[in-house]
Amino acid sequence: MADLVLGHVLSLPEVVVDIGGGSGAVVKLICARTNARIVVNLDPSPGFEAHADGALRVAGRAEALPFSDNSIDLIYSYGVFHHLDVPVALADVARTLKPGGLAVIADFITENGRPRQALTLIFDALRAFRGYRANIGLVGAVRVVGYRLSPGWLNHARSDRLLSPSEFHKIYTNSLHSVNFDAMAGAMVAVWRKPGG
Ligand SMILES: C[S@@+](CC[C@H](N)C(=O)[O-])C[C@H]1O[C@@H](n2cnc3c(N)ncnc32)[C@H](O)[C@@H]1O
Repeated sequence: MADLVLGHVLSLPEVVVDIGGGSGAVVKLICARTNARIVVNLDPSPGFEAHADGALRVAGRAEALPFSDNSIDLIYSYGVFHHLDVPVALADVARTLKPGGLAVIADFITENGRPRQALTLIFDALRAFRGYRANIGLVGAVRVVGYRLSPGWLNHARSDRLLSPSEFHKIYTNSLHSVNFDAMAGAMVAVWRKPGG
């Protein structure tokens, strides 16, 4: 995810927000690779601890970002927006980005519109272990993957209402003028630069 986000960055950002950053695995990479002045992991969940070096942990919700208008250079998010009222959250992304600022929002989709199966979720969690270990260490990786394999999380994830690619395209296009799209395994990515700047 960090490679995908930074692949769209034209100049190094000063103020960065990860919406729903969870364990802080991506935040940590963004801190190291951008040297940004302020990096915020914004997440409402008390169950996660931030492991990000130098990042601020802020409790909050994407639908009401606790930041001023035109204050952020880079907003990104991975695997969060299906929890949200997407148009409301995107309106707040547009409000808080600086003119010329960049948003990269990646979220899970389903090709067929059906909920994900438990076996797929288990396989994905196990496959992610190596990446977590590289980014947040063995103990962090065991904790995050353990959480992703817990019955509570699996039940939650199976009940997620994911968008199909065409729904994703329509909703994001309606909210963000001239948004572009990218794809990654099991997810779609909206890439938007706020006009001006
Ligand atoms: C599947 S996890 C993704 C975590 C992280 N982005 C990652 O890639 O590992 C979803 C995250 O979304 C967060 N979340 C749920 N509702 C949210 C909201 N309204 N605003 C911001 N984050 C939210 C959860 O707390 C959780 O950390």
